[in-house]
Amino acid sequence: MSKRSTAQTKAFPAACTVEVAWEVCNQVGGIYTVIRSKAPAMVEHAKGQFCMIGPYINRNIQAELEVLEDSQDMFGQTAATLRKRGYDVHYAQWLITGKPRVVLLNPNAIEDQALNVVKYLLWKNHGINVPDNNPLVNQVIAFAYLTKLFFDELTKHLDEGQHILAHFHEWMAGLPILDLKRDQMPVKTVFTTHATQLGRHLAINSPMFYAHLPFFKWEEEAKKFGIETEAKIEFKCAQTADVLTTVSEVTARECKHLLKRKPELILPNGLNIERFEALHDFQNLHIQYKESIHKFVMGHFFQSYSFDLEKTLYFFTSGRYEFKNKGFDLTIDALSKLNQKLKKEKSDITVVMFFVTKRDFHNIRPETLQSKAMMQEIFEMCNAITQQVGRKLFFASTTRQDTHLPDLNNFVDEYWKLRFRRTIQSWKTNKNPHVATHKLVAEETDEVLLALQEKNLMNYPDDPVKIVYHPDFINASNPLFGLDYNQFVRGCHLGIFPSYYEPWGYTPLECMASAVPSITSDLSGFGDYILRNIPEHDEYGLHVIERGKRTFDWSSNQLTDVMYKFLEQSRRERSMQRNNVEKHSAIFDWENLIKHYVEAYDLALGRAPIKGTPQV
Ligand code: UDP
Ligand code: G6P
Ligand code: GLC
Repeated sequence: MSKRSTAQTKAFPAACTVEVAWEVCNQVGGIYTVIRSKAPAMVEHAKGQFCMIGPYINRNIQAELEVLEDSQDMFGQTAATLRKRGYDVHYAQWLITGKPRVVLLNPNAIEDQALNVVKYLLWKNHGINVPDNNPLVNQVIAFAYLTKLFFDELTKHLDEGQHILAHFHEWMAGLPILDLKRDQMPVKTVFTTHATQLGRHLAINSPMFYAHLPFFKWEEEAKKFGIETEAKIEFKCAQTADVLTTVSEVTARECKHLLKRKPELILPNGLNIERFEALHDFQNLHIQYKESIHKFVMGHFFQSYSFDLEKTLYFFTSGRYEFKNKGFDLTIDALSKLNQKLKKEKSDITVVMFFVTKRDFHNIRPETLQSKAMMQEIFEMCNAITQQVGRKLFFASTTRQDTHLPDLNNFVDEYWKLRFRRTIQSWKTNKNPHVATHKLVAEETDEVLLALQEKNLMNYPDDPVKIVYHPDFINASNPLFGLDYNQFVRGCHLGIFPSYYEPWGYTPLECMASAVPSITSDLSGFGDYILRNIPEHDEYGLHVIERGKRTFDWSSNQLTDVMYKFLEQSRRERSMQRNNVEKHSAIFDWENLIKHYVEAYDLALGRAPIKGTPQV
């Protein structure tokens, strides 16, 4: 046991809690979800004495901010002091649930000359070398400099003996910890890592990552991947913080070996779980959003060939573009087996599988947009014909003597008959529907496209498994679905996330909260958590693929089986499973999980002795 983890005795009163993260008001990945969803619980816990600090790099964020008067509290007064000194500092209320106060610091407004001095001090005081040509690292360093200045000023508002509790997430926000400690400031620090930089790279590149974990030499490996600065910042933050935490046992093991410190606590990730009073509410939402997905699918596929939407199931995966880490490779392999199996059985079921991720693209394919526009035209044309038929039928019904239904064809005039024929004719095509909805920048080297080609999953008419590769995150302004991400999830039947490297993995948890069954893996923090805490998880529609001690082929077969079994369910069974999965989501409500954060803060403030380290 390290010296650090012996029981602390002196307890410090905290004047306020400050949470610092690169993803405050800046959506990148899952950390944004942590910060945003946890805000109400944090505001409540800190009884108002709470503020977040983030980088001011996303100009569109203004729409989500309500500027606050500087004079009203010490956060505002501190922001005003820095602004007077010429820094670009914003103080506002973030208009999300919980309405937390945020200070946004603009790292891009720091001039090169000043940045060079900061870099020099980083090297001199902490032995961290910074390359010249890494814009992200430059931003991170400038942000750290501004954050430290903020703490320098904020501590001037403290009474004798008071401390600030400062919680830093990830290497991109954690750097100020080093100077706060060096200057012996009255600030108690918690550092939470949501992955290790090195772990992420090693998992992609080293075939036996988990088995080799104890043997990697972190400095050598960091050099190999050209991430020495990032890895060193992370290492030093983990070593220096009063309390180190991470989000899962899986990542705690990684910290022990790659950051050479066992986290004192695990802080599992939660959500604001909104439970509906009536079960049919979320069933209705599923039907409503599935209808929007149907519309997209009709536009995308039916111009080439059609299939029965009543017998079509929507599967999806989503997340950052890390082909192997996110298990896209395993998913494609298993889908190709599923495709063969269904084909052989001459199954009448169709699976449409969506890959939702972020890649550089030029534009949405004109064909995709055009086909969608044509769908709209067909929709409007059908409405016009229906209205015409309805009006004429009504008139005929009241004037006819005989009681037989008349031939409805006679009620459509020639103009609409011709227009109908022409529209449908010009819409139909012999070409196969594209798998990618967008024109990618690096089409020839895209791993998803290459794997789909290799497995021949190319949307041929006789393939029961169809693919839609959407290389952009989904939001309501995205023209293809007209849904936001959460609505899209609700409209689907099954989420597939068999990750190889995943410190937590919000996407299956979000499925759970939206009453959608999902598949995760035993190597993801979330999967590991449910294996430990929800033994009957399979019954609830939470499937965990074994990857830790299995070969790729074994896991791929297991995934194929789980998907196949899912398809064997009746509509009623699917509906019951949606009830079941949602029923257990309350475990992950922040109301239940915030206690782990409180424990970490008590530990840092010396209010609680360190009880020992987690089992790693
Ligand atoms: N996400 C999103 N829109 C999308 C796809 C994903 O907002 O179209 C979000 C999703 O809601 C989740 C996050 O991206 O909260 C991904 O987090 P996760 O922890 O699964 O993975 P990370 O990207 O952090 O590795
Ligand atoms: C709920 C509703 C059913 C509906 C079904 C669609 O269960 O109660 O009326 O048909 O959802 O489910 P599916 O899994 O086929 O999308
Ligand atoms: C990181 C991890 C992801 C986790 C998220 C929030 O981005 O990659 O697995 O869910 O942080 O902790």
